[in-house]
Amino acid sequence: MERDMNYLTFALAKGRLAKKAMELLESIGITCEEMKDPSSRKLIFVNEDLKLKFFLAKAPDVPTYVEYGAADIGVVGKDTIMEEDRRNYEVLNLGFGACRMCVCGPAEAEELLKHHEMIRVATKYPHIAKDYFYNRKLQTVDIIKLNGSIELAPIVGLSDVIVDIVETGSTLRENGLVVLEEICDLSARMIVNQVSMRMESERINELIGKIKEIL
Ligand code: PRP
Repeated sequence: MERDMNYLTFALAKGRLAKKAMELLESIGITCEEMKDPSSRKLIFVNEDLKLKFFLAKAPDVPTYVEYGAADIGVVGKDTIMEEDRRNYEVLNLGFGACRMCVCGPAEAEELLKHHEMIRVATKYPHIAKDYFYNRKLQTVDIIKLNGSIELAPIVGLSDVIVDIVETGSTLRENGLVVLEEICDLSARMIVNQVSMRMESERINELIGKIKEIL
């Protein structure tokens, strides 16, 4: 697979982050009209004038595309970056998509955490959960990987607690759960392929500079 030197390629995490990322890029004069058509099934979009390409990918795949150089630049959440642990440069905190990674559960679970009991932790982020409990809290836990609607797990008795993203807190509230411990703050980040950062340093640094100015 050859690196396309003429274009800078962006991999954007599908959904809200991609939308916000395109708004941010528009404010520095980078647009991609063909990406705005909601009925389109196209996967890759090109701005011929600026020699830019954009594609949307599932969030956990964005750091992978960037590590292998299939994209020079990625926009993805810090949660995904931590979970995937790929060799990329994280160059910018874009600010949007702000939320927190937390240990949550029913209020009673607080005692289980305090006494370092062997508990079950359900999460979409097994790597983050493992690092937090094993390396930071020195607590042995049983981690159960789920793929969504994590809040269900303690409600139906699959786990004692969950490790998940809390944004407004309304999912927790509406399901009788609370934040028990905070792991870290999250937001969207810009990541760059390590080779691209050297080979395309001029274009990439100019882009980073322009974004920094408006943040
Ligand atoms: C995320 C997260 C929580 C919720 C938090 O889920 O996993 O469930 O949003 O937001 P809140 O604090 O504003 O309620 P998402 O909707 O992305 O879907 P998922 O549960 O299927 O992962």
